[in-house]
Amino acid sequence: MPRDWFSPHALILAACLGITGLGGCAPAGPSDGNVPTPVYRNTTDPTNQEAAYLGSSACSACHTDIATKHRLHGHAWQLNRSQGQPPAYPAVSGVPQPPAGFDWMDVSYVVGGYLRKANFVDQDGFLITTGEAGVEAQWNLSYPPAGTVAGFAPFEPSAGRPLSYEYTCFSCHTTGPTVFDPAAPTYQENRPGIRGTWHEAGVQCEACHGPGSRHPGSPGNRDLFVDGSAAFCGRCHSSSADGVIHSAGGFIGYREQYAELRASGGHANFDCIACHDPHASAHFDPVGIARTCTSCHPNRNLGIHTGKTHVRGDYVEALSCVSCHMPLAGRSAGSSVVGQSAGRIGDVRTHIFRIDTRPLDFTNMFTPDGGAVLKDGSGRAATTLDFVCLRCHNTENGYPFRLTLRSAGEIATGIHRFD
Ligand code: HEC
Ligand code: HEC
Ligand code: HEC
Ligand code: HEC
Ligand code: HEC
Ligand code: HEC
Ligand code: HEC
Ligand code: HEC
Repeated sequence: MPRDWFSPHALILAACLGITGLGGCAPAGPSDGNVPTPVYRNTTDPTNQEAAYLGSSACSACHTDIATKHRLHGHAWQLNRSQGQPPAYPAVSGVPQPPAGFDWMDVSYVVGGYLRKANFVDQDGFLITTGEAGVEAQWNLSYPPAGTVAGFAPFEPSAGRPLSYEYTCFSCHTTGPTVFDPAAPTYQENRPGIRGTWHEAGVQCEACHGPGSRHPGSPGNRDLFVDGSAAFCGRCHSSSADGVIHSAGGFIGYREQYAELRASGGHANFDCIACHDPHASAHFDPVGIARTCTSCHPNRNLGIHTGKTHVRGDYVEALSCVSCHMPLAGRSAGSSVVGQSAGRIGDVRTHIFRIDTRPLDFTNMFTPDGGAVLKDGSGRAATTLDFVCLRCHNTENGYPFRLTLRSAGEIATGIHRFD
């Protein structure tokens, strides 16, 4: 079924060998991110000629290899039916209990709970909030790189009335969502709080490929919808369409990947799938990042950090390009500020990639009101050294030496010149 020319690995190899004519991975410099993708016949009609939804188990019957990868991906676990029991996530411990005073029988759905945090929907389809229930209503998973521990935290503490689980909340967490129409109201499973409907919970196959009923009978037509553009992923991986990288409290928000990539300088025009396998988890699957940094940047290396390992309590990180260029500058559930040098650690890796080597702290990365990441005249952003070097080189980690913003800046400037 998936043939060689479909495989991202074959494409990388082709690019590296210069077969495609891009001469991509020549040591002279990084290759172009616009990897030629296979030609799909339908990149414009997400309805697949008004087809009906089949559900991902139908797709899995033929596409077993992709289904196996998808099952480990966060997309598959975005919204989980809870029938008297906690969702059974692969790979992580998940959500052990609902908020205090609630039983699993009171919970219809768990939102997320696979990567960083979970919210809960009650049997009537309303979000369980701290404001209404008077208890901490968001479950945060532990995040060892930031040293945060698992536990409940407030969720919507100022909610003074039941919060409907609305289209604006489930549209990125479901497959085949429909918006609520007051003239012809529809409610998922007749739950009054869920205004609007969906076909399948979670971001499943047909969330990206459209309804598939016409496809199994004639797969040779190859007319199912496929869109590999960054804008397509960006519909969900951005908090607004204005291109602003939103931030609060000295950290970037948690779904800003599209705006970040657009502000990343050299990668600004890349598709997400220049690096990602769209079906494989970046967290739990070794092939999730189908293209590594050095496949395009073969003349860069780890220099003074070659073979070094960062250890913090039980957390162990072998130094890599990602350690510095995708610092934990985003925050979904938790963050910490560590040591006298105030190293900053959130829980989502940024896609800004560029590093500002001036001896300046995080306040210089954000607008004066802290609500957005600053960009230069060319629309590029960069992370400050308290997110980059000082995450590890701070006074709490027992490193043999201490770095300040100034000394880190001196070493960081031109850090690759000896590569
Ligand atoms: C525009 C799309 C979009 C909308 C609307 C949206 N989300 Fe999300 N949500 C995301 C994305 C993308 C992520 C993952 C971001 C990341 O990992 O950096 C996410 C992550 C989450 C997570 C964490 C999941 C996990 O396993 O850690 C929870 C919980 C969550 N959202 C709840 C909500 C709630 C509640 C609402 C409505 C108030 C909502 N979301 C609306 C796109 C959206
Ligand atoms: C987050 C969006 C997304 C989801 C969810 C998704 N796909 Fe895809 N899929 C894509 C993109 C983008 C491509 C094009 C990849 C490329 O051109 O390299 C693709 C390509 C494919 C292909 C053709 C290429 C290949 O690898 O064989 C098949 C078949 C496929 N998807 C099946 C599935 C099935 C089955 C599921 C559910 C188990 C699924 N997809 C879920 C985005 C998605
Ligand atoms: C009866 C088996 C079967 C089922 C069921 C099936 N597929 Fe396919 N699919 C195929 C085959 C075979 C191909 C390759 C067609 C070719 O290249 O000639 C394919 C190709 C694709 C492609 C490549 C895009 C294209 O059309 O070129 C995508 C995406 C895809 N399938 C997604 C899905 C999704 C989503 C579902 C579930 C709604 C699904 N498939 C169900 C057999 C199946
Ligand atoms: C230049 C390569 C590259 C591009 C382009 C790219 N990514 Fe990533 N992305 C990565 C790497 C590498 C990681 C894994 C970092 C790690 O090791 O945890 C990642 C991780 C992620 C994560 C998980 C972040 C976290 O900490 O939870 C999300 C979500 C994500 N990418 C979405 C996107 C989206 C959406 C796009 C397109 C707008 C995109 N990526 C484009 C390389 C890339
Ligand atoms: C329909 C909305 C939607 C679309 C479209 C979408 N995503 Fe996501 N994505 C999400 C949500 C919601 C999460 C949060 C998952 C979680 O936290 O468990 C997520 C999480 C992720 C993650 C981190 C989870 C993991 O297991 O590594 C990556 C990587 C990612 N998306 C990449 C992509 C890429 C690449 C595309 C485009 C091919 C894409 N997404 C399209 C909604 C979407
Ligand atoms: C698909 C190929 C490709 C991949 C994969 C890739 N890069 Fe790049 N990168 C490029 C290209 C092309 C440029 C622009 C070259 C230039 O500006 O000279 C670039 C530029 C950069 C820049 C400079 C950004 C700026 O404008 O200041 C950094 C930093 C960088 N990449 C880091 C990384 C890291 C870290 C990874 C892995 C997470 C990575 N790249 C993965 C192709 C790639
Ligand atoms: C210890 C942190 C650190 C690590 C690890 C690291 N870099 Fe860098 N990198 C930097 C800093 C700091 C800069 C900015 C240097 C400057 O502006 O003088 C930079 C600049 C770059 C640039 C743009 C400027 C240039 O020299 O071309 C690229 C591309 C790049 N790094 C790629 C990589 C790749 C690929 C890896 C993994 C092999 C990597 N880096 C590992 C800190 C790091
Ligand atoms: C992910 C954690 C991490 C990050 C990020 C990081 N380092 Fe390091 N660094 C280490 C570790 C671990 C060592 C080895 C410490 C030891 O020898 O005990 C080290 C060693 C060093 C050394 C001594 C090298 C030698 O030859 O002994 C210097 C200088 C240094 N780092 C500077 C920097 C600068 C500047 C940055 C930011 C651009 C940075 N580091 C980012 C973890 C990190």
